[in-house]
Amino acid sequence: EANFAADIEAIQRLKQEKNAVILAHNYQTPEIFHCVADIRGDSLALARAAQTVDASTMVMAGVHFMAETAKLLNPEKTVLIPDATAGCSLAEGITADNVRTLKKRYPGVPVVTYVNSTADVKAESDICCTSGNARRVVESLGVPRVIMIPDELLARNIEAETGIEMLTWPAHCEVHEQFTPQQIKQYRRIHPGLTVIAHPECPPDVLDEADHAGSTAQMIEFIDQKNPQKVLLVTECSMSDNLAAQYPHTQFVRPCNLCPHMKRITLSNIRQALETMQTEVTIPAHLQQPARMAVERMLAI
Ligand code: 13P
Ligand code: SF4
Repeated sequence: EANFAADIEAIQRLKQEKNAVILAHNYQTPEIFHCVADIRGDSLALARAAQTVDASTMVMAGVHFMAETAKLLNPEKTVLIPDATAGCSLAEGITADNVRTLKKRYPGVPVVTYVNSTADVKAESDICCTSGNARRVVESLGVPRVIMIPDELLARNIEAETGIEMLTWPAHCEVHEQFTPQQIKQYRRIHPGLTVIAHPECPPDVLDEADHAGSTAQMIEFIDQKNPQKVLLVTECSMSDNLAAQYPHTQFVRPCNLCPHMKRITLSNIRQALETMQTEVTIPAHLQQPARMAVERMLAI
């Protein structure tokens, strides 16, 4: 598209002028993911990369909690989000007050918080996790019972894998909770030999129908190493779009679901963010240290 080309050119120039880099989550559309991003990845990879960015500005092509995490880990930098209303049903599904109530109800039980959460929820937590390291994080605690919030489905899936009891919270990813085992069975009937990889934010009965489960980066790793002929990525739609361009020998079978929050980020508002240096993400002073600790503990594992 004509304005894509103009936006891409402008963004490349603005990145130089403003000493900025663009971090893009795997759910960003191909024109963002392949044409303007400097750093690409799952939530874990983006957090790790944010720690060591040299440029003075990071633009988060992703949702708000990802921009907050980048700011927590590299507070000297300016962090911009092209649309400040790019939220997440998980992050919005729990408040810091809810966490304080859980801690009172279960004293001494460690709180493991999925990075899909606000900074004030992270600040009430012992350690964070992502879908890529949840099992390792939970097992590192060496306890029989943890409070794992806010994703009930991720908690149930990790409970099934580890046998560690999960006290959780009824928040769900609005994208992944919609998949059903019937859908997968039907696609297997239509496409013999199909490899199915599901995101751990999906319901447990969906993971039971899948061949593998993993974060978005782990999905890419699997395709890169195993070269499956036909694959169904039970996740957000852009995932398959981005990989189809990179792995032409693999057939990507849909269904997929769109994340309306991820889709708020466009080339046009990335360009605007760089032009206006808006919207800057900041974290209230009293939350910075405790929230950073929870994320850094995770990264140290
Ligand atoms: P990962 O990329 O860490 O697998 O997370 C998926 C997701 O839903 C992010 O919002
Ligand atoms: Fe949140 Fe789900 Fe969208 Fe990820 S895909 S940002 S978990 S609503």
